[in-house]
Amino acid sequence: MYNYKLIAAEYLAKKIDAVPANELSEMLEFPPDKKMGDLALPCFKLSRIMKKAPPMIADELKAFLDNEEGFSDVFKNIESVSGYLNFFVDEKTYCETLKDIVSSPETYGSNTDGKGKNIVIDYSSPNIAKPFHIGHLRSTVIGQSIKNLHKFSGYECVGVNHLGDWGTQFGKLIVAYKKWSSKQEVEERGIKALTDIYVRFHKEAEACPELEDEARAAFSKLEQHDEEYYALWKWFIEISIAEFKKTYDLIGAQFESWLGESFYFDKTDSVVSTLRDKNLLTLDEGAHIVKLDDYGMNPCLILKSDGSTIYATRDIAAAIYRKNTYDFEKCIYVTSAGQSLHFAQFFKVIELMGYDWAKELVHVPFGTVSIAGAKLSTREGNIVLLEDIFNEAITKTLEIIDEKNPNLENKEDVAKAVGVGAVIFHDLSNNRIKDVNFIWDEVLNFEGNTGPYVQYTYARCAGITDKANHTVDINNLKLTNEFECDLIRTLHEFPAKVVQARDDLEPSVISRYLLDVCQSFNRFYHDCPVLKAEDETVKNTRIALVAATASVLKNGLSLICLKTPKNI
Ligand code: ARG
Repeated sequence: MYNYKLIAAEYLAKKIDAVPANELSEMLEFPPDKKMGDLALPCFKLSRIMKKAPPMIADELKAFLDNEEGFSDVFKNIESVSGYLNFFVDEKTYCETLKDIVSSPETYGSNTDGKGKNIVIDYSSPNIAKPFHIGHLRSTVIGQSIKNLHKFSGYECVGVNHLGDWGTQFGKLIVAYKKWSSKQEVEERGIKALTDIYVRFHKEAEACPELEDEARAAFSKLEQHDEEYYALWKWFIEISIAEFKKTYDLIGAQFESWLGESFYFDKTDSVVSTLRDKNLLTLDEGAHIVKLDDYGMNPCLILKSDGSTIYATRDIAAAIYRKNTYDFEKCIYVTSAGQSLHFAQFFKVIELMGYDWAKELVHVPFGTVSIAGAKLSTREGNIVLLEDIFNEAITKTLEIIDEKNPNLENKEDVAKAVGVGAVIFHDLSNNRIKDVNFIWDEVLNFEGNTGPYVQYTYARCAGITDKANHTVDINNLKLTNEFECDLIRTLHEFPAKVVQARDDLEPSVISRYLLDVCQSFNRFYHDCPVLKAEDETVKNTRIALVAATASVLKNGLSLICLKTPKNI
């Protein structure tokens, strides 16, 4: 693939022995203002290594590159300005990028950094029998996007849905079911019936704390595989999974493994015995803990005083199982920032157990979601089901289509892609650690910086190329104005954005970038006639630019789980 950033880095490496080309490439930036060139090297990053002041480094590098053979074929000019070395790309170079995109539209932006390497991504991971609410949307779309970014980089990815299918909440649910529900009701209302009785349990337990004892007793019966309780538990899981899958289909989330917490039920004993052998366990008021004071953390609880395991114990067992099964290069966990301490604690316990791969465990936290300012909690019944949100988004989108474009073909499918896309894009439009406030008017504002706006721009590009019905001649390209150059400059950034989003585990890098692409495209399209261009070469080039924009938007949107209908 033609990459002028890498070419610049390779030229620089000839002069700077101490830094390899790939590192220099990472130092090169795409300046926000094109007066500063297409690429800029902030030379302060080299001053320690080269033991010189940045302006001097920039001057020296400029003098060197000006005399390098072939350099001026790629870059028409370089400038040394206040410690920055600014590179100006020659139009011919832009054409090479354009050629590249048009000749490999599906793979443009991808790389092979992860070839032969495995990564595990634990995401979505809802709790069975509790509703799949909007908080889980974040884990699902952030996790799926991180997985897509790694796949696009050649990694073998194992997406794990670490279902919360074990724990005391099942005792509560069984008690609640037997008291207040029936087979018929659960069959009819599915997860909604389960949620209602779960919420009712907590309300009634406030007045009648004995219920908690009943729930504990029910859970220990389940742990002993009581036939009736075990069958109920299995049934609750089936109902929940069937429901989750409807939502996963809408998002396009796919998992390679569905092993939930219950799978580790018989694998925690060996964790406990290893901890005991290594003298890491301390008895504390009947419970077994691993002390972490030396690391500035509260202890990690391993066994409760009644001898039962907890979330962390099962997570330790799961990490060991995954390392043995997949030999991962990284194991990534995507959950709300509220669980950061839990991950820090159990990662530390794994390290103390002597596993050097503890450093390969990565927690990817994200901020909380509120709906129009209200916090969400399953226990208090203050929940908004994800399915309802998507349904509402689809209905609202259909209303907009009916108003603006009533004769659109496949209206329902388009409304699904756009409505769901709007919700996902909104979720991914800021850094993941920021809290999200879900306000309908913002999510579905088709004019603003939203998913529908990007999807619409894609559909527009696809419409133009369809109408042109022209096979681009990649040997007949010529850029004639600033708008064209600007657009190609933006498209050229895509491969670097993929790497940045992947390494920072930050899908919002892609969503923000796609908005830039739309902006560049719209400026270009406003000023440059495409189908009406008079000169054949200019027309051929502009059609190539539109096709290239469509490819980048399509590849980028699919990385962040959005579909690209051709007609909107
Ligand atoms: N079930 C948990 C929840 O909904 C998330 C599980 C995340 N994964 C893990 N291995 N702990 O909060």
